[in-house]
Amino acid sequence: MILDGESLAKKVYLDVKKRVAELEEKGVRPGLCAIRVGSDPASQLYVGKKIRACENCGIKSKAVILDETAEESELISAIQKENEDPSTHGILIQLPLPSSIDTQIVIEAISPKKDVDGFHPFNVGRVATGVGGFPPCTPKGILRLLDEYGLDVRGKEVVIVGASRIAGRPTAELFLSRMATITVCHIETKDLAFHTRRAEILVVAVGRPGLITKEMISQGVVIVDVGVNRIIDSNNPRGFRVVGDVAPSCRERAYAWTPVPGGVGPMTVAMLLENTVIAAEASLTGITV
Ligand code: GUN
Repeated sequence: MILDGESLAKKVYLDVKKRVAELEEKGVRPGLCAIRVGSDPASQLYVGKKIRACENCGIKSKAVILDETAEESELISAIQKENEDPSTHGILIQLPLPSSIDTQIVIEAISPKKDVDGFHPFNVGRVATGVGGFPPCTPKGILRLLDEYGLDVRGKEVVIVGASRIAGRPTAELFLSRMATITVCHIETKDLAFHTRRAEILVVAVGRPGLITKEMISQGVVIVDVGVNRIIDSNNPRGFRVVGDVAPSCRERAYAWTPVPGGVGPMTVAMLLENTVIAAEASLTGITV
C-alpha cells in the first residue's frame, strides 16, 4: 500500500484554507516569514515550495534572503524584526545554515510563539514532555500520514534510523508520546540490520540512497522514507532524479511505504502551514501552544 503524502497534503490544505478564512473574519491574516541564507539550490527549492503553498492557502508569506557571507548578527536582527511584527505569526529559518553561523544561537533567537518549525528548545522541551509545543513538521507529517491510513502506532516496535534535530529525534519523541516502543539508530550503531529487522514501523532519515535493502527488513513492515537524494540519471531531462534512503526492492516485503517524491515531503510543507495557522489562532487567545 502506498502512503500518498501528496493527496493527504491536499486535504490538509482544505482545512488550512477554512481556518485562514475563519481567522480573517476575526481580523487576522496568518503570516509566515521564511528566512534563507546563501544560495544552496535545495534550500532555494524548499523555501520556494513553502512560499507557494502559503500563497495557495491565503497565508501572507514573505521570504527574507541573506547573502552567504551574512554575519550571524544580521540574521539575528532579521529574526528580531519578525518577532516584533504582529503580522508575522510564523518564522522559519531554512537549514542548513552556512558553517560560519551558529545554528543553535539563531534558533534560540526565534520567539517560541512563532517557532512553527518546532526547533526552539522551548518547543523541543514541550514536545518531549508531551505537554504541547509546536512539533517539527516532518515528524508531525509522518504521524498524520500513518493515522490517515489507519496504521496504529500504539505498542508497535518503531525503529528510527537517523538522529537529526529535524527528523530522527523529534520523530522518536512523537512516537513515544503515542506509546510506541522506540529504537533510534545512528552513525555509531553497530549492527543496523539487527535493529531494522525488528521494526514493525521503520523510519529512515539519513540522506543515503539505498541504505536500507530488502535483507534488512521483515515481511509486513511499514516503511517511512524521509530521505531526499538527488542521483544522476541521464534519462531524466533534468539530469537527475530524486530517490529516498530505502532501496525500491524493499517494497516487495513492505505492507505499506511512502514514495519519494510524494510521501513525507509534501506532508512537511502541509504541517508547516498548519503550524502557522495554529500560531495565528494562538495569537488571538494568548494561550501557549
Ligand atoms: N531543512 C531540511 N528540512 C527542514 C525543515 O523541515 N525546516 C527547515 N527550516 N529547514 C529544513
